[in-house]
Amino acid sequence: MCGIIGYVGKRPAVPILVEGLRRLEYRGYDSAGVALASPGDIAITKAAGRLSVIEQRVDFTQPQTQGIGHTRWATHGAPTDINAHPHVGGDGLIALIHNGIVENNRSLRTYLMQHEVQFESETDTEVLAQLIAHFYEGDLEKAVRKALHEVSGTYGIAVVCADEPDLIVAARKGSPLIIGVGTDEHILASDAAAILAHTTQVVYMGEGEVAVIRPDSLRLTTLDAIPVAKDIEKVEWTLDQIELAGYDHFMLKEIHEQPEAIENCLRGRIDVKEGKIHLGGLVDCARELARAKRIVITACGTAWHAGLVGEYLFEELVRVPTETEYASEFRYRNPIIDDGTVVLGVSQSGETTDTHSALVEAKQRGAMVLGIVNVVGSTIAREVDAGVFLHVGPEIGVASTKAFTGQLAVLAMMACFLGRRKHLSPTAAAQFISALAKIPDQMRQVLDNTTATREVVKEYVDCDNWLYLGRGYNYPAALEGALKIKEVSYIHAEGLPAAEMKHGPIALITQGMPVVCIATDGIQYDKIRNNISEVRTRGGSVIAIATEGNTEIKEMVEHVIYVPDTIEPLQPLITSIPLQLIAYEAAVLRGCNVDKPRNLAKSVTVE
Ligand code: G6P
Repeated sequence: MCGIIGYVGKRPAVPILVEGLRRLEYRGYDSAGVALASPGDIAITKAAGRLSVIEQRVDFTQPQTQGIGHTRWATHGAPTDINAHPHVGGDGLIALIHNGIVENNRSLRTYLMQHEVQFESETDTEVLAQLIAHFYEGDLEKAVRKALHEVSGTYGIAVVCADEPDLIVAARKGSPLIIGVGTDEHILASDAAAILAHTTQVVYMGEGEVAVIRPDSLRLTTLDAIPVAKDIEKVEWTLDQIELAGYDHFMLKEIHEQPEAIENCLRGRIDVKEGKIHLGGLVDCARELARAKRIVITACGTAWHAGLVGEYLFEELVRVPTETEYASEFRYRNPIIDDGTVVLGVSQSGETTDTHSALVEAKQRGAMVLGIVNVVGSTIAREVDAGVFLHVGPEIGVASTKAFTGQLAVLAMMACFLGRRKHLSPTAAAQFISALAKIPDQMRQVLDNTTATREVVKEYVDCDNWLYLGRGYNYPAALEGALKIKEVSYIHAEGLPAAEMKHGPIALITQGMPVVCIATDGIQYDKIRNNISEVRTRGGSVIAIATEGNTEIKEMVEHVIYVPDTIEPLQPLITSIPLQLIAYEAAVLRGCNVDKPRNLAKSVTVE
């Protein structure tokens, strides 16, 4: 969601804040702003639109050595100059940036209006800024605490005050904040990407904590002022990983990074010779896990699609009933959880509020709670009982690509790991692992020849409706393919289990409508061939994703994109790559902003 940056130190703040915002822009990009604190004054520059607007307006020569910056994904109030952060309280006395939602903002607004406070914007954030100013009696830390005691909702905030300019007070509840520790300086940010250029030494703020940050000191406490001891941790990501490295877009870079990303994900975890899986994060709970009577996978968006593949994998390899639930639904429907239930959250960011809340709910009801997460140090990673990291490196493109295949690889390893403790024979496990080990090279093969995909997309790029069909393991891949093209090119697309098409969606098919059919070799190949005929009979144009060597299919469809052969449970790792490329090419041809699609944000930290 929104990106937060703060700096207190000895260097001029503006370049550091703006560069940090540039790295955080993927979290939200409908408006941006910075506030610079100096004795008796806070200078604010903010505007609707991309960060480039601020870059043109802000004076880079300003000498202030402390300030805060924000890049917004609107929730309350449209993306306008006035609604952009920072928001001011007490006639310019304090400035605040915020990620999250103040749920009781209406009643607080009424209370403040009764105390003669006037509001400029429609935002919940301005209410919080004014509330802090209202409680301010010469001590910013105290005022922040007092105000936060009145707030219900979620927040990651950074506050500066004209009376105490060398100070940032930050607080978090449901919204991540990290503090980079440099020499005589601290950098506060909503994620590590904005800190890496300065330091890899960080302190992760915990839930409900308040940080009092000055150039040479850092103090963390609970909201009730009880001191919290913190270790400085090291971020493993490098600066290179969060830069474009010659690619036009992060999405394309991350699509091409997949072979290496999956190698990193599998490294040290699969042993082809021994036919074994080592998952360090699950060792301590392996026995308990093997006793699970039911697995619930919960996630949102792309991660939910990965979860659906996980459901098929767990049921086939572990033979434990598994269901995949949207986190937002699971949480509110009084789910049945007993002590035989294991709840597994899948999340790239580890910060998605719906997923996090679903896991909290499951834990409260006594379930063992696991996580499959990419971002080390993220909220979900810290709160689950056990889990497995993706290790695919930072994902910057808003549309998830390498994290999706990373999630599939981890789910495959988990299924095999647990399967061996239940029904899976050593021979079956060894075959599975050796197929998994081949995936990175097979991905390379697909990525070495992307011309066919580009040519196909050119032909259909003006069509506004597409269908994606798949069966078995490739049904979730079809859903993900449709989501990808929607997200980045704004083409309307629907993903379906191929057989379901005839129960309604077939009515949509008209002459020349593009229908992407994942028709790789497997037990359902004949069935999907029938579905392809149904599409073609009605005039649809079929783009088939098929297994190399399948010459028959060429005669049946308009276009074929070939992929290398692998076992069915692992096919989505390969078939999703052409689907990602189709979406990418369509977005570029339609002139869309690939890495910052309209209305989206990388990490959604509101419900
Ligand atoms: C947002 C992103 C999606 C992502 C989903 C879940 O909606 O735009 O790309 O799949 O959140 O994110 P997570 O970080 O939990 O995997």
